[in-house]
Amino acid sequence: MPEWRPVCADRDLPADSMQRFTLAGDEITLIRVGDELYAVDDTCTHGAVSLSEGELITGERPRVECWLHGSEFDLSTGQPTCLPATVALRTYPVRIVEDTIEIGL
Ligand code: FES
Repeated sequence: MPEWRPVCADRDLPADSMQRFTLAGDEITLIRVGDELYAVDDTCTHGAVSLSEGELITGERPRVECWLHGSEFDLSTGQPTCLPATVALRTYPVRIVEDTIEIGL
């Protein structure tokens, strides 16, 4: 059972946007693509830079692209979809409770 942490109001995360939060010492990026919410580790597994400063790729399989070397990570699974990264990002459950977005740790 995850420990749910409130991070922001639902209205404060526009569609097709990313926002970084620090939760229990971990940097986590919250992402909205259309009506779907995702939360993944903010740190690229290849070179320890912030993915929330990268590019969000929307569409059928939403991904985040690292700005430094171009690895892309599937937001649903955290798996890299291209090199150079080979290690998956950790993913977190997300929910909305009374207009507040919560991330499960
Ligand atoms: S630091 Fe992210 S792909 Fe290299």
